[in-house]
Amino acid sequence: MTAATSRREAGTPASLDDMTGLTPLVATTMCPEPRHVFQKLREEYGPVAPIELEPGINAWLVLGYHEVLTVARQEQTYSCDPTDWSVYQAGRLAPDSPVRPMMSPYNNAFFTNGERHRRLRAPIDGGIATIDQRQMRRAVAALCTEVIAGFAARGEADLVADYAAVVPMLAIADTFGLDAVQGRALYLALQQLYAWQADAAAAHRRVMEILAEVVAARRATPTKDLTSFLAAHPNLRGDAEIYDTMLLLIVASNENTVNWIGQTLRLMLTDERFGGRLRGGRLGVDDALDEVLWRDPPFTNAAARYAMSDVELGGQLIRRGDALILGLAAANADPRIHTAGETWSEVGNRAHLAWSAGPHACPATIPAWLIARTAVETALHQLSGVRLAVAPEEVAPVASSWTRGPASLPVRFTPADQP
Ligand code: HEM
Repeated sequence: MTAATSRREAGTPASLDDMTGLTPLVATTMCPEPRHVFQKLREEYGPVAPIELEPGINAWLVLGYHEVLTVARQEQTYSCDPTDWSVYQAGRLAPDSPVRPMMSPYNNAFFTNGERHRRLRAPIDGGIATIDQRQMRRAVAALCTEVIAGFAARGEADLVADYAAVVPMLAIADTFGLDAVQGRALYLALQQLYAWQADAAAAHRRVMEILAEVVAARRATPTKDLTSFLAAHPNLRGDAEIYDTMLLLIVASNENTVNWIGQTLRLMLTDERFGGRLRGGRLGVDDALDEVLWRDPPFTNAAARYAMSDVELGGQLIRRGDALILGLAAANADPRIHTAGETWSEVGNRAHLAWSAGPHACPATIPAWLIARTAVETALHQLSGVRLAVAPEEVAPVASSWTRGPASLPVRFTPADQP
């Protein structure tokens, strides 16, 4: 029995900070089968479980479908602003804490509430609505083909490092009007930034330089891209808000889309239901993409919300200032919303929470679908005879507490003739 449960049974609800021996959040992502971990947590705690974010820093993981909806929809009670977090207020996060990128305040929509969130979100929704989907599909298909051409003659590749990790960043950079050189420079600088090593400050400066360059160019000569739209939007006050909004879109579009593409390719290459269709020429890509959103959504654990007052949720006493993680994958697997024998992705059922819900729900489902579908289809069409080069169980998950996808996907295929 853990210290946490023994205190609960003694009748005095322990405060989150006092609990020890908790399951680390990373155990829900870096494991062969997250549903088994969720089930154990549910059995021990119910639909809201205490977990350890990092040694000495705890949070609540919201596992229940209805509880996730409650938290995501009630922003007066559950704030998105990390300055409402007791751990942040007490300065308890180490400078190199891996939790920092997801749970520190930044000047963009993701970390704000209410009126301010609506002001910062409107340019995002408006900008995404201006994307020409046909043109984007053509551009994404062309860049997927170009990326594949870089390794097609080898007859082997890592479909994560060589492909899935590259395509979303280049696709979103293109919607901002960045050319391929700027897109790749941004990709490298962001990788450096989020590694949180000594060179993070230099990487941040480089990211800002690239964004400032493209904003200045579009101010001089506006075009139909997202940069021109955001640079001219009356809701964004000053250059800092423009750069931070661009950065949010770029960062939010990247890891989740990479992992969605990676998980879907993995499923199609390892699961007989899809493998048969693949060989028979009927790809079933949309079915596989949908199944991943239900079974293994890329944003496994969405960070975060912070309680604005003491509140009861799923049988737990949440205290003001406690952090709550939205367990989107756990909510999709909540036995209370599934009937026995049901398959994961019933045709047309999109009630999953992969995009979250409420005012912060992902604004970019349409471009995300477009990028992921085009990337998966292009790889499967262009890599003749593609097959996994390792046993399916050797495909390890990427190192993250928040998102889940394959760290690498080594494949072999028939080498393409050199042009
Ligand atoms: C083109 C690709 C994408 C872009 C541009 C994008 C952009 C964004 C932005 C700007 C937000 C913040 C919205 C706000 O706080 O008001 C957001 C939130 C979110 N995105 Fe996306 N996203 C993309 C792909 C994805 C993918 C592939 C997934 C997973 C399937 C995903 C899941 C989410 C979720 C779950 C949230 C909400 C988290 C919460 O409630 O705290 N996104 N996205």
